[in-house]
Amino acid sequence: MASSWTLAVDRTDLLRSCLVEGEVPVPDEGEAVLRVDRVGMTANNVTYAVLGDAFRYWEFFPAPEPGQGLVPLWGFADVVESRAPGVEPGQRVYGYLPPSSHLRVRPARPDARGFRDASPHRAELPSPYNAYALTTGDAAYEADREDLQVLFRPLFFTSFVLADALGDGGLQGARRVVLSSASSKTAYGTASLLRDQDVEVVGLTSSGNTAFTSALGCYDRVLSYDAVTDLDRDTPTAYVDLAGSTDLRRVLHEHLGDALVRDVVVGVTHQDSAPAGTLGGVRPQVFFAPDQMRKRTGDWGRDGLDDRFGEAWRRFAPLAQEHTDVRVSEGPEGLARVWHEVASGSSAPRTGNVVQL
Ligand SMILES: NC(=O)c1ccc[n+]([C@@H]2O[C@H](COP(=O)([O-])OP(=O)(O)OC[C@H]3O[C@@H](n4cnc5c(N)ncnc54)[C@H](OP(=O)(O)O)[C@@H]3O)[C@@H](O)[C@H]2O)c1
Repeated sequence: MASSWTLAVDRTDLLRSCLVEGEVPVPDEGEAVLRVDRVGMTANNVTYAVLGDAFRYWEFFPAPEPGQGLVPLWGFADVVESRAPGVEPGQRVYGYLPPSSHLRVRPARPDARGFRDASPHRAELPSPYNAYALTTGDAAYEADREDLQVLFRPLFFTSFVLADALGDGGLQGARRVVLSSASSKTAYGTASLLRDQDVEVVGLTSSGNTAFTSALGCYDRVLSYDAVTDLDRDTPTAYVDLAGSTDLRRVLHEHLGDALVRDVVVGVTHQDSAPAGTLGGVRPQVFFAPDQMRKRTGDWGRDGLDDRFGEAWRRFAPLAQEHTDVRVSEGPEGLARVWHEVASGSSAPRTGNVVQL
């Protein structure tokens, strides 16, 4: 019997992980089995784990034992067996994948673009995560940039929708956008797109990452976290928070006062899940990409949205390539090592961790 494996983490101590071996899943009628091939690992995956209970990320891929979690990853997989009409072995898809050798799916609505996993346990979960895009039907797919896509695709899509939402009435009078965790891929993707808008773009980052962040050329100005109070207090400002630090939020609110006109929560790279407490002034609002996606699908149609995203990606990809050293690790041990490194925050922003499973 062929074997399969999965990397499970302890939900209460994310740095503890174990490899669990099993048998390769066999598809029932209407199902297909994917061999997970190549995945990326960034702070975004850690956030899925940090917010696993609150945002139901643990529910996409049920873990072998209670108390364990399977951290969702983005990447490519190949169909190896299918009893689902319209889905054939040999097809290659991009989508949301478990940290495992295999995934059993129940493909629904297959067409030239791909299919959705209609497995009952995923039915109530946010729908963008249930789509699997065929490489042959994807406007943004470029075979020679698979690793960049593995790393950046979901992040840059968020950047695209976020920058668009800010420009589409979301700035509320702000003349300056301040992004935290400015060295993160999602932040600098957003910053690069905001250059098209008439606002000053300021990046906040750790002191060790200021040189990297400045060299990106996406920000008008880069400040380390301890220099936040250098910001003038007269410019109406939107805060776009990817760090999720309660202390930083408090300092910014106190320093900018009424000049802070928006506070948009996008990420928690600093893994700080403490409640914000009473801040006064503008209230933080969680950014939810599917809302703006729905609006733009209405405005532009699905093809219009895909085309605009494809065009933005092709403009951004050379910058991403220039500032990313792709590092490919191998197999389950490589995945475990990279998880530990990224989750503990010891991965440099230039390193793009890809794992060949
Ligand atoms: N809401 C959404 O739909 C959505 C979508 C995509 C991404 N996001 C969020 O955006 C954030 C960035 O994700 P990404 O994948 O783009 O990140 P990334 O490129 O892997 O970012 C790495 C950076 O994050 C910070 N960081 C990472 N681990 C840390 C740790 N343990 N302690 C302190 N800082 C740490 C550091 O930046 P600094 O030194 O600059 O702080 C580091 O350079 C994540 O929280 C992610 O969940 C949200």
